[in-house]
Amino acid sequence: MSLEERLIEYFKWFHQNPELSYEEYETTERIRGILEEEKIEILPCSLKTGLVAIVRGKRKGPVQALRCDIDGLPIVEETGLSYASRHKGKMHACGHDFHTVAGIGCAILLNQKREELAGTVKILFQPGEESSLGALKLLETDVMEDVEQIWGIHADPTNEAGVLGIREGYVTAAVDRFVIRVTGTGCHGAHPDDGIDPIPAAAAVILGLQTIVSRNINAFHPALVSVTKVEAGNTWNVIPETALMEGTVRTMSREDRSLFEKRMREVAENTAKAYGGQAELEWFPGPAATYNDGEMVHKSIQAAEKCGLLVVPEESSMGGDDFSFYEKKIPGCYIKVGTGKGAAIHQPNFQVDQGVILPTAGYLTELLMQY
Ligand code: NI
Repeated sequence: MSLEERLIEYFKWFHQNPELSYEEYETTERIRGILEEEKIEILPCSLKTGLVAIVRGKRKGPVQALRCDIDGLPIVEETGLSYASRHKGKMHACGHDFHTVAGIGCAILLNQKREELAGTVKILFQPGEESSLGALKLLETDVMEDVEQIWGIHADPTNEAGVLGIREGYVTAAVDRFVIRVTGTGCHGAHPDDGIDPIPAAAAVILGLQTIVSRNINAFHPALVSVTKVEAGNTWNVIPETALMEGTVRTMSREDRSLFEKRMREVAENTAKAYGGQAELEWFPGPAATYNDGEMVHKSIQAAEKCGLLVVPEESSMGGDDFSFYEKKIPGCYIKVGTGKGAAIHQPNFQVDQGVILPTAGYLTELLMQY
């Protein structure tokens, strides 16, 4: 069987057997089995799910990492594919099955070219990306200690198969979650004057929050706040005591991120106060924005030219990726790989064009061998 046929067979297996964040036990065992069969070294490490493959080049060079995430999503698949998910309610709807086989393919090719490879490549099969925090599991081990730079890919259904979206600078946003609780005093719905209604206060807070984007953040800086959940009261004739709001803030720069948190607290607390109530904001920081290093972007375009792949400028996204946790200490580059135009990621009919698997593995190999 050719390498392409093997990779497609692996891909179908991963697609059929999606597992959610931190439950990727079967997936991990399958990756381990394939790597062992292909005689690729696996680094011993303390991960419960996920694993790290290593290819040691015969020439001197840097230690590089390639991140491939491996988890699926809690989505009921509707693609109708012959190799659709066998796990009801779980689906590889973000292309992490593709990332996994592209990583395996790259490991196989690099292993064949060890004589020419300069330095060492660690291929991280990372768990829990969809939780936004899976990268931290790898950072808790010592695997990343000697790594000098890191590469990542992501499936992109807005581009034709094999077209690469590459951009210097910020590519994905910082992802923060917040909860605001507005407290008033409950009373009869017919006598609002007897209490402090938290609902109009919460409504004013929601509108006020949007002015942070329009009035406090530099107009040239991407930033947004979405209140995605509002909860208050449980019947029609009682004014409740509290109103709860939850949502997400997306920013690119570190300064905007901390400014946003500070202003949200001020707007929530002072607006609620103006209505006679109180507000409390809880802030749950997620990954920072992903930033593509200029030098690495240059290399990634060069490698694409060598492989005859088309590169288009990538738009930055207000979505997030925990890839940025790796970039706290080392430079990184995150490349979008066109997987054929179709349904968006995280949708029940998202799918990856199989024809993109081998060229992506070949491209990543070219990329990692440029040193
Ligand atoms: Ni993803």
